Amino acid sequence: MPTPVIMDVDTGIDDALALLFAVAHPEIDVLGVTCVAGNAGLEQVVDNTLRILDLAGAADVPVAAGAARPLIAPARSASHVHGADGLGGVALPATTRQASSESAVALMRRLIMQHPTRVTLVALAPQTNLALLLRTHPEVAERIERIVFMGGSASVGNATAVAEFNVWHDPEAAAIVSDAGVPTTMYGLDVFNVVAVPFDRAASLATGSHRVGRVVGELLSHRVALSEDESLQYTGFIGDAGAVCAIVAPHLVRFESLPVRVELAGFSRGQTIVDRRPYAGEDKLHGLSDEWSRSEVALGIDADAVAELFLETVLQLPRD
Ligand code: RIB
Ligand code: CA
Repeated sequence: MPTPVIMDVDTGIDDALALLFAVAHPEIDVLGVTCVAGNAGLEQVVDNTLRILDLAGAADVPVAAGAARPLIAPARSASHVHGADGLGGVALPATTRQASSESAVALMRRLIMQHPTRVTLVALAPQTNLALLLRTHPEVAERIERIVFMGGSASVGNATAVAEFNVWHDPEAAAIVSDAGVPTTMYGLDVFNVVAVPFDRAASLATGSHRVGRVVGELLSHRVALSEDESLQYTGFIGDAGAVCAIVAPHLVRFESLPVRVELAGFSRGQTIVDRRPYAGEDKLHGLSDEWSRSEVALGIDADAVAELFLETVLQLPRD
């Protein structure tokens, strides 16, 4: 049976790749997509999401707009990574449909409560919508199978030296979700940063005859303007799409069940502190807080196999 999922996105280049993969893969049933500000402003995220779902032939999947900014912090931008339009300037036909009149929270609640089995939430963005859902309708928690989120890191950050963008963008939301008692899988930068498509493969797709393949190739070929050094600008990361790949191919990922907490204060605000000590509990001996939640943390991945799974799956979408 396909896994019923609701995807929460800030489309963005890699959210777009994740949406294409999720729609294409037979073991994923996309019930709906909710949008939040992150890589781009909310309105742009909604428009990008609708266009990508149109491209994937999934214009029947409902899309709802959610939070336009984090719970506490100001909205940030990621245009240096995803371009001003959030999709690296990749041209897509304008959409002919509107987003749902429901809010993201209302759509998530309705889809979760009406589905006959538990639903998996795939959070690929700042977790503001999920936090608002869990605070407004706590009854949904027992109807959620798992929250699989792209976010955090057990090692280095990207937005800051120690914080990953999605968690850093709304740390309070991530802390609320982490403490909600729902099983979570953390697909963080430890694996996010190693799953990539080689430049020549992306370039070949971008100029190929496959309609979806061309868009995928162009998205992957977008250069990140974080360095003057051209050799550092190409990444080819499938990014968020890897978190969805991990749902259908968990054997390609090494997970550990570890205590995790989100730092809310100080220079390390937004860091996911992952306790990898061989023992736990010394914190208590020092009179420190022991408010940790456990998560299945992805620490290793067969990067080449996941990249191949991603490509072979999205190329199953219609060629013309
Ligand atoms: O840190 C990477 C994450 O931030 C990805 O989800 C990317 O799309 C951005 O949202
Ligand atoms: Ca994202």
